[in-house]
Amino acid sequence: MQKVILDCDPGHDDAMAIMLACKHLDVLGVTTVGGNGYLKNTTRNALQVLDMIGRSDIKVYPGHAGPCTAPLVIADNVHGESGMDGPQLPPPSKPAESKHGVDFIVETVMSTDDVVLVATGPLTNIASALNKEPEIAKRAKGLYIMGGGAYCGNWTAAAEFNIVVDAEAAYKVFHSGMPIYMSGVNLTRQCPVLKEDIETMRGMNKVGKFAAELLDFFAGGGDAHLHDACAVAWLIDPSIVTSAFLHVDIELTGTLTRGMTVTDLRPLQGHTPEADIDLTSKKRWDDAPEDSPFRGKAPNTHVGIRLDFEKFRKLLLDTLRTYE
Ligand code: RIB
Ligand code: CA
Repeated sequence: MQKVILDCDPGHDDAMAIMLACKHLDVLGVTTVGGNGYLKNTTRNALQVLDMIGRSDIKVYPGHAGPCTAPLVIADNVHGESGMDGPQLPPPSKPAESKHGVDFIVETVMSTDDVVLVATGPLTNIASALNKEPEIAKRAKGLYIMGGGAYCGNWTAAAEFNIVVDAEAAYKVFHSGMPIYMSGVNLTRQCPVLKEDIETMRGMNKVGKFAAELLDFFAGGGDAHLHDACAVAWLIDPSIVTSAFLHVDIELTGTLTRGMTVTDLRPLQGHTPEADIDLTSKKRWDDAPEDSPFRGKAPNTHVGIRLDFEKFRKLLLDTLRTYE
């Protein structure tokens, strides 16, 4: 099984990602970050999810409470005051670890081969780990993130929540050289929560009922998407996502575009959302002069473009059925 560290901000969709990961990947540990909720809540939520799915053997290491360069913005409008409103859960069966999440990431990646990092919250911990030990960019097998968007945002017109909450951290990560697999909102919006799936989960088992109660709240206000579960599903079954290797950079100073994952879609020919994206095209749409600084830069990110939603649904429902 692929060894992973899950860095997350549970978070309803983070919880679904944890349920997928714990059945298909070798989860070495969970690190938590401020994002959907305050760190004390995302950490407690991670402990409770692991208890609920019978994996309290997996340790939880609290990381950073929020960005170093800006106050934390939380998404309590989406996830509720606790960060994971909905299910009534018993208190965690054990405390989180005293070791800092960033230290756990650095120590584990530097001492263990072939570890994949999965980040489904703001990239604060990942960037901090890179600052502490730049070598992890070479030693980690890759970084799978839920974050950004190839040509759209959700928190702003241009930026997705995880990226814009800590844009400086994202900039550090995207300039680290680490192999990045980006599940942006352009991909994850292809992964809606379906009422019929919630009812299927409810009738399964204890974990299925827990998942249904999470999604009752998460999707209660209308359409919701399993953003974080997409990033983990891509790692579990690479055939679930069609991607393109493109250049991505992070906007830090734009008035309207701060936190945007500026994705160079020109190599795909369809460089506008409306055009049909041709993943095979070798045609380029570089209209700037050859010596222009705006000519396409070397690709640095595997950008998720298309999701096989039916394959995703099957993976998720089949996985939940394997729980007690
Ligand atoms: O924009 C969606 C992302 O922000 C997801 O990771 C969700 O959990 C929130 O953290
Ligand atoms: Ca998240």
